Amino acid sequence: MSDLLRDSISVSSQFDMTSQAIIVCDDVLSCCQALPPEVSQLIVSSPPYNLGKEYEKQTGLQKYLEWQECVIEELVRLCHSNGSIVWQVGNFVEQGEVYPLDIYFYPIFKKLGMKLRNRIVWHFDHGLHASKRFSGRYEVLLWFTKTDDYIFNLDAVRVPSKYPGKRHYKGEKKGELSGNPLGKNPSDFWPLICREWESGIIDIPNVKSNHPEKTPHPCQFPIELVERCVLALTNKDDLILDPFGGVGSSLLAAIKNSRRGMIIDKEPSYLNVAHERLAAMQNGTLKIRPLGKPLHQPSGKEKVAQVPHEWKQGQKAPAKDPQGQQGILF
Ligand SMILES: C[S@@+](CC[C@H](N)C(=O)[O-])C[C@H]1O[C@@H](n2cnc3c(N)ncnc32)[C@H](O)[C@@H]1O
Repeated sequence: MSDLLRDSISVSSQFDMTSQAIIVCDDVLSCCQALPPEVSQLIVSSPPYNLGKEYEKQTGLQKYLEWQECVIEELVRLCHSNGSIVWQVGNFVEQGEVYPLDIYFYPIFKKLGMKLRNRIVWHFDHGLHASKRFSGRYEVLLWFTKTDDYIFNLDAVRVPSKYPGKRHYKGEKKGELSGNPLGKNPSDFWPLICREWESGIIDIPNVKSNHPEKTPHPCQFPIELVERCVLALTNKDDLILDPFGGVGSSLLAAIKNSRRGMIIDKEPSYLNVAHERLAAMQNGTLKIRPLGKPLHQPSGKEKVAQVPHEWKQGQKAPAKDPQGQQGILF
């Protein structure tokens, strides 16, 4: 258990340098404008995608991007010189046309002097099934740093190697183990947290109904996703800021790992849930999918993994795809 969780956490509803958890109900822009410069080592967020969700009013793409640029300009000011901004985005869709938001966000960050370190693909196996295009199965995290001198704790986020016993087979190191005993670099392709929704009925990437972390928010972050960023890009006691904080997933990822956390959201109902989750984390009742928990692999014997008898008898012939999984030929 982290040191912060052993003692009670100091929670504040407005910014102050001493609180461990800061939960602010405000408009993102006015709140950020009032904060001191370089205050946060990691700004991590999933902004509204302008899709007309319950917490946003859909506008034209250009207008949305102009608003986002004003917010990002403030966030760059708030980012510490050795800090990072991680912007998690998917697609804006209008009349069936897809606009990948990372393509639109990159020039905004670049213009403000931020340097891209990774474009991380967050892959998931399930979601809505498209009928007029290929079904979307990933979103993107753009990781930017403010300078070339930035925090990157690779050892804190290494994952088990596939072949730990592999050895150099030639050269000076021939015969020596080639891997790192702490594990390998997790790479810029993160299938984590995604395949545990194996029942196939869940609309990922949002945390959905049968996920242990589910709250009433329509598209919350899985805590595990933010934890990897927190561990790799910050040190103990650093401040993690989520300017579109929702139900507090980034805050929980920060506090769980002995950092300080601040979230801003304009919806009091989401922030109430954030308070409840924080209290539940402190008393040990919050359900969290643990970081690095192995992904569930279906055995093929589950009922939902079988070709249904209706399809076996009907005209639609089940076919084996090249990986040997069952598929349907239409
Ligand atoms: C994609 S959700 C983020 C969810 C969050 N990552 C979580 O895990 O709960 C975007 C959030 O931005 C908030 N939001 C939208 N416009 C805002 C504004 N102008 N100021 C503050 N918050 C805003 C919404 O209420 C919503 O909770």
